[in-house]
Amino acid sequence: MTSTTDTTTETKGRPAGLITGWDALEFWVGNARATAGHLASMLGLEITAYAGPETGVTDRASYVLESGDLRFVVTAGLDPDSEITAHVRRHGDGVRDLSLAVTDPASAFEAAVARGAVPHLEPHEVTDEHGVIRRSAIRTFGDTIHGFVDRTGYHGDHAPGFTTEGLPTYPRQPAVNLRRIDHLTANFSAGEMQPWVEWYQQVMGFEILLSFDESQISTEFSALRSVVVADPDRRIVIPINEPAPGRRRSQIQEYVDTYRGPGVQHIAMRTDEILSTVAAMRDRGVRFLDAPGTYYEDVRQRLALLPLPWDRIEQLGVLVDDEPDGHLLQIFTENLGDRPTVFFEVIERAGARGFGEGNFKALFVAIEREQAKRGNLY
Ligand code: FE2
Repeated sequence: MTSTTDTTTETKGRPAGLITGWDALEFWVGNARATAGHLASMLGLEITAYAGPETGVTDRASYVLESGDLRFVVTAGLDPDSEITAHVRRHGDGVRDLSLAVTDPASAFEAAVARGAVPHLEPHEVTDEHGVIRRSAIRTFGDTIHGFVDRTGYHGDHAPGFTTEGLPTYPRQPAVNLRRIDHLTANFSAGEMQPWVEWYQQVMGFEILLSFDESQISTEFSALRSVVVADPDRRIVIPINEPAPGRRRSQIQEYVDTYRGPGVQHIAMRTDEILSTVAAMRDRGVRFLDAPGTYYEDVRQRLALLPLPWDRIEQLGVLVDDEPDGHLLQIFTENLGDRPTVFFEVIERAGARGFGEGNFKALFVAIEREQAKRGNLY
């Protein structure tokens, strides 16, 4: 592992200097009502707003889901010729918009475009009787975009065109308590990682937090490289992965082949209490990737000094990693949809700022076991 402070990155006048946090992640899916219900049920999110034909939005249906500071928007196209429907046909259900809350969407847009970003949505305002939302967007990797949003001047339900009427019903208990997005990992083809790391540095003003190479992330069959980029305040943290040569087809390559290009692989959500969170999610029927057979034997020996409820941790299948600054606990769900692309991580940090490096091998062995079932580990 190498830790870098990039002193050459100047954030002043770049989007990074204007970011206040995540605004939302927008999924484009085949059936928004079904996916919103599935996410609310599995992750304990609250469905807080809806937009569609009933609210004057004729080409799509969108549901907003929230828990703490975490906000997802799930959208489906209503027209066979819409760009949403085309996106779903190509990628399956996936994450379309990595939307960033900024103090000034016009300045963020202009700064990014001046440094080479491809414009997607010119700066504009959306208004109704509840106030104003200022927005713009640029393209990032693949068919993914970064929205820039300022909703501090808006006091209605999410955005103009949204309502709290007629929301789908879903189970409320047991409570899950996810708090916020911790990080979001994107997968790329071999050779694409470095150019996109540079894009996040030069266009966005992000820094390199950490990098890992194939000597650190490999299994018997495959390997990958990863560089973690983040804004200087570490509000937006994005590990960027690419496959490295291995004996068999990398899980990263399986993702890129299946998603038809680079895209979001997993969304890590922070909780303050992972054991009750995972217990609640298991009660709600969520399935997680199983740790390899000897994992707990190894980790209980390796981290024997950590005073943790090891029996409970093992029973729930939660992974543990230790770092000089503290430890973290994490677990990974199975894929969200039919294609082996997007999945979720739940993470609790007790001082540790890394990504569970000690668990990478366990995670990748578990993913390869699923990959083999799909006939894609060759
Ligand atoms: Fe992660």
